[in-house]
Amino acid sequence: MSTLTPYNGSPVPYLGSLHLPIQRYGPGSNYQEDDHKLVVVMVGLPARGKSYIVKKLKRYLSWLGFNTKIFNVGDRRRRVADDYGNGINDAGNATTMRDTHTAVPSEANAGVKARPRRHSSAFFDPNNDKARAIRNMVAMDVLDDLILWLKSGGQVAIHDATNSTILRRRAILNRLQRDPEIKVLFVESICNDQRIIDRNIKLKTNGPDYVGMDPVAAEADFRARLCNYECAYNPLGEYEEHRDVQYCKIIDVGKKVIAYNIQGYIESQCVFYLMNINLHPRIIFITRHGQSEDNVLGRIGGDANLSEKGRKFAATLTEFVKQKIAAFAERTLAEQQQEEDEERQRPLSDSIALANGHSHYPPATSSLHEYPTSSETSSVDGTPQPSLEIWTSMLKRAMQTAEGFDPDVYTIRHLRALNEIYAGKREGMTYKEIMEQYPDEFEARRKNKFYYRYPGIGGESYADVVQKLQPIIVELERKRHSVMIVGHRAVVRTLLSYLMEIPTTHMPDMEVPLGYVYACEPRPFGNHLTVWKYLEDKDCFVEIDAKSALQIRQTNLMTPPAYDQDST
Ligand code: F6P
Repeated sequence: MSTLTPYNGSPVPYLGSLHLPIQRYGPGSNYQEDDHKLVVVMVGLPARGKSYIVKKLKRYLSWLGFNTKIFNVGDRRRRVADDYGNGINDAGNATTMRDTHTAVPSEANAGVKARPRRHSSAFFDPNNDKARAIRNMVAMDVLDDLILWLKSGGQVAIHDATNSTILRRRAILNRLQRDPEIKVLFVESICNDQRIIDRNIKLKTNGPDYVGMDPVAAEADFRARLCNYECAYNPLGEYEEHRDVQYCKIIDVGKKVIAYNIQGYIESQCVFYLMNINLHPRIIFITRHGQSEDNVLGRIGGDANLSEKGRKFAATLTEFVKQKIAAFAERTLAEQQQEEDEERQRPLSDSIALANGHSHYPPATSSLHEYPTSSETSSVDGTPQPSLEIWTSMLKRAMQTAEGFDPDVYTIRHLRALNEIYAGKREGMTYKEIMEQYPDEFEARRKNKFYYRYPGIGGESYADVVQKLQPIIVELERKRHSVMIVGHRAVVRTLLSYLMEIPTTHMPDMEVPLGYVYACEPRPFGNHLTVWKYLEDKDCFVEIDAKSALQIRQTNLMTPPAYDQDST
């Protein structure tokens, strides 16, 4: 590994340091320190938030530049249900099931839409030998696909299944450990909170296994399935330790984490990340600073003050976000109330089991526990706690944008990591000047904006910005209340790319104009995005279509400054 070397005109960045695997992105990667393939094997009973964890982990690792893919065994099982049914009747022989899932029931040929056969709880009975053989075969078929994918260039593959018996895990290990290039990390999700489990059961009975089924029957069947799994469940432990396998147990959404023998870089990233996630309902607001004096001139970088327009935006933004936070608190409080009412109507035995629960795993579409109704609330010792933190970069234009928030009420943090992409020797220039005076550099950036690193000491690429923002992302995951981030164009693009799962290679071309406020709210299947646009003439915000707000435009470096000058 090399240390810092001077810029050589290449659009591919040099390595930052031994421990920052910057060049893992894309071709020509020089990332060797942990250059192995990793299989994350999920373990746990149904309805324990495994798929939620898996989706988050995939989003994080992909954003960090690791080519990551989820291999879900439940999806494959559902596809083969028509061929093998419940394994009770004639389950067929144990030939490979790949490609057999397309079998169409005969009624379909007659133009009648046939409902696919589903697996009832009997299919998950550990004493149902045929069904167990089918389940194992599906899991191993998925594992084969996963290995093929790793061989063809993938880096991190996630086997998303219950894998809840030692027999199953032994088979998986035996297959994976044949290949010295492949490392294994078991991740077990354990949840003892009955309220969380009940909510997950609700999600499951609304899921693909129970489409069109009576909800009461669906719940009864799913609970019977759970019992079947519980009978045969072997948590991670002695067996894995005996084989010296890396593992991590996440208990009650990271309240307790047990890590065993974690060695690799990616593995430690996974564990660190999973230790920090939480399910508290919150909103992450992200916006760029108000228009700066440099924006008016079309100059990049620098540390200019806000323009007149920028100050006006800042004042309106402050009131707007305060209102949104108050409305969010009210909404979530009402939902909490409703949930409590529903709980009161449950049988007593259920209520006792629910008494300890607080949060949802994954988070409810909307639910809030112990959430404040105003801009601040009290902790156990009565100290006021802000329900909103404001994070800005250390650049004047961002700090000035947040000046309207009273630091006695809100925690305000100025973080260097949020500073704009540093343009090195090109700081303070306009795009036109760069194009005219340094056409080769201009062209190199246009061709490969994500990897292109500006020349000069400290010059950055978007790949560098990802590295810089990694601790911010973990901190955002760790926070239990809402946060507003006032950043800059490249920083906002990079944050949104993580939160909304936008491929990093597209991210530098995302439209992120001044005056837009992005609000991400955690939901069971990802973050929900709302976007508002500031109308300068009316001095107010209007909601706009979130999808179109995240547009990717053709790289045209001449467009942005004009955009910033006119259209807050
Ligand atoms: O023009 C505003 C700005 O934040 C610059 O300071 C920064 O260099 C630029 O935007 C980042 O956008 P892009 O990567 O599209 O050049």
